[in-house]
Amino acid sequence: MAPSDDASSQRSQSRTAQARADSRAGSVSRSAAKAAAGGARTGSAKAPAGRQAARRGQDAVQFLKQDHRLVDALFKQFEEAGDGRTRASVMRRIAQALTVHARIEEEIFYPAARAELSEQDLLDEAQVEHDSVKRLIAEIESMRPSEPLYNAKVTVLKEYVKHHVKEEERELFPQVKKTGLDLVAMGEELAARHAQLMKQGGAGRRRTATAETGMQART
Ligand SMILES: [Fe+2]
Ligand SMILES: [Fe+2]
Repeated sequence: MAPSDDASSQRSQSRTAQARADSRAGSVSRSAAKAAAGGARTGSAKAPAGRQAARRGQDAVQFLKQDHRLVDALFKQFEEAGDGRTRASVMRRIAQALTVHARIEEEIFYPAARAELSEQDLLDEAQVEHDSVKRLIAEIESMRPSEPLYNAKVTVLKEYVKHHVKEEERELFPQVKKTGLDLVAMGEELAARHAQLMKQGGAGRRRTATAETGMQART
């Protein structure tokens, strides 16, 4: 084969590999968006049975990352929502998703990581960030979408979450993966607790928000 044929063949193989990677990434993001859209349409707290089953085989880090993508999709849905009623409905789903996600991390993932990692600063910061997110959620839930600053507060919430997710995925998760923790077993535990809390509609969310901030969440 002539050198130019060689180069052309390599370019073609690399394009094919890239197309496969794009297709995989697209399918993950499409499934997260589809799951987000499905829940918003029905207003149900329950994830479809198939989705729960698909998530059962994930290790702890994969499970939490997929939950992050689901929240990304919900924030996108909020930005695209036209009227206040839809925005409030999507915001309720964001609040529930974030509250349940924070709770399973605080109950299962963070304590296990704390026991294994000598560096505790990341986990301390993560806890402080969770607390800030919860306070902001409570503030938003005490407001109506027509009130001034409602959209601005949701935008700031999105930025807080983006920063927090970036630190978890780029710093905390890689450190945890290097420990001897059984992440597959932990993934099962996270999935089971997540399903239980979602079934309860993010139980404790409104009570916690009210207790922490003195605000009355609006339904
Ligand atoms: Fe977190
Ligand atoms: Fe997280």
